[in-house]
This record gives sequence, structure tokens and C-alpha cells, in this order.
Amino acid sequence: MSVLLEVVDVVKTYTVGTVAVEALRGVNLSVEPGEMAAVMGPSGCGKSSLMHVLGAMTRPTSGRVLIDGVNVAEMGDGARTAFRRDKVGFVFQKFNLLPTLTARANVELARRIHGSHRDPEADGRVEQVLDLLRIRDLMGRRPVELSGGEQQRVAIARAVVKHPALILADEPTGNLDSKNSEIVLNMFRELNRRMAQTIIIVTHNPDLASLVDRVIEMMDGRIVRDGRSAPAEIAESARRAGQ
Ligand SMILES: Nc1ncnc2c1ncn2[C@@H]1O[C@H](COP(=O)(O)OP(=O)(O)OP(=O)(O)O)[C@@H](O)[C@H]1O
Ligand SMILES: [Mg+2]
Repeated sequence: MSVLLEVVDVVKTYTVGTVAVEALRGVNLSVEPGEMAAVMGPSGCGKSSLMHVLGAMTRPTSGRVLIDGVNVAEMGDGARTAFRRDKVGFVFQKFNLLPTLTARANVELARRIHGSHRDPEADGRVEQVLDLLRIRDLMGRRPVELSGGEQQRVAIARAVVKHPALILADEPTGNLDSKNSEIVLNMFRELNRRMAQTIIIVTHNPDLASLVDRVIEMMDGRIVRDGRSAPAEIAESARRAGQ
């Protein structure tokens, strides 16, 4: 099997004044194309720090992060920005849509920045994504005219339309009620199944366990459990990690 993402001995230390905060203390992880994984663990254990490193948003203090065989830990800021734009789609807890633009314009802007608006083949993908997320009829509205769940689906479309190698979602249902959380998580699963989109989701939601192939549990800056295991075991693992 090929490997899309390979993380080797990654350490991330933040310096706050004279204090060093060790957010990641030696993380090793590999992800194959088409996987859908959940990252779980208590607040402060390093989940967001790991996502920032995986998505080339920050450089690790030491270690290697290979995405599609390229070590992003060694790149300068400019190259990292370009790499991130081309390869990674982010979805955050806050939807971060531009308030003065319609949903369609928000998605189109992402395509322009990426350059895929010039690719006629990509148009078909956009239509497929809008249907899958069931937001086609909402695209003329501005964010203020959409519910939280709908805004998050537009934010997911914005991340997915550029066809990134990797989607990273950091607590994407953190601002949603349970019904909308379920809808959004199911849509991530559909994107993964139908479009073979590789997805890593940070969540505190134990319900995600039944939807993912793999639960990665973190504690104190380390991965303490990484299960591509039976559904019952995943559910148990997610239940513990979600507490
Ligand atoms: N920019 C930063 N500067 C200094 N310390 C930071 C920074 N970002 C995170 N930390 C610290 O690093 C540790 C890991 O934080 P991180 O945000 O990765 O945790 P998390 O698992 O995502 O938590 P949560 O579930 O609350 O989002 C924490 O001790 C946090 O205080
Ligand atoms: Mg976090």
C-alpha cells in the first residue's frame, strides 16, 4: 500500500516567554490514501498542534512530515504556503466564511486561489460536491442567511472543491447541535467513500466512532493508541477518548 502521510518522531515545542510547552513529544503516524481517521483525546493533549503540523501550517521543532513524499518540515514559509494551498483542505470549528460573499462566491474564491477554476474537468467535481453536501439550492445566500450546519457544509465544499490530497478537520462539529453534527459527520463519510477523499477529523464526539476506519488516541503529546480495529473496539476507544 502506498503512504500519503508519514510523520516520523515529530516534536513540537512552543516557547511562551521563558517557558517551553511541549505540545507534541515524539509522534509517529502513517496514513494511506482514502483513509478516514478520527483523532481523539483530552483538551490540551496536542490534537490541534498535530493537525497544524500535518497541514504544513507550522513547522515541527524536530522530526519529519512527509506528504506525498515531500518533507514539509524542511520547507521555507513560501513553499509551505504554496504546498498547503495545493494539497490540504482545512475545516475548522468556526466556519470562517467571508460574510459579504454568497456561498457560491466563497467556494469560487477558494477555486481561484487554488487555480482549479481554469480546469473544466473540476467543474464536474464541484457539482458533485454540492449535491453530496446538499447545498446546491443554498449557494446564492450569504452566510448570515444560512444555519450553522449549512455554513459548515459550505465550508466543507470550499475545502473539498480544490481536490486536496488531504482534508484536515479540527472539531468541525464543535459549534453544531447534535442533529447537525450527525449530518455533517455523515457527509464527511460520504465524501470519503464516494470520492476516495482522505480525511482526518479531530473530534470529542464519540458518535464518530461508528463512522471512521480508525481512531487515533492522544495523551500528553503522544499517540497512545491507534486502532484500525473492529467496530466494537473502535467504539470503546472513542468512548474513552471522548470522556
Ligand atoms: N501557539 C501556542 N503557543 C503556546 N502554547 C500553545 C500554542 N498552541 C497550543 N499550545 C499548548 O500546547 C498544548 C497542546 O495544545 P493543542 O491546542 O494542540 O491541544 P488540543 O488537544 O487541540 O486541545 P483542545 O481539545 O482543547 O482543542 C497545550 O498545552 C496548549 O496550551
Ligand atoms: Mg484543539
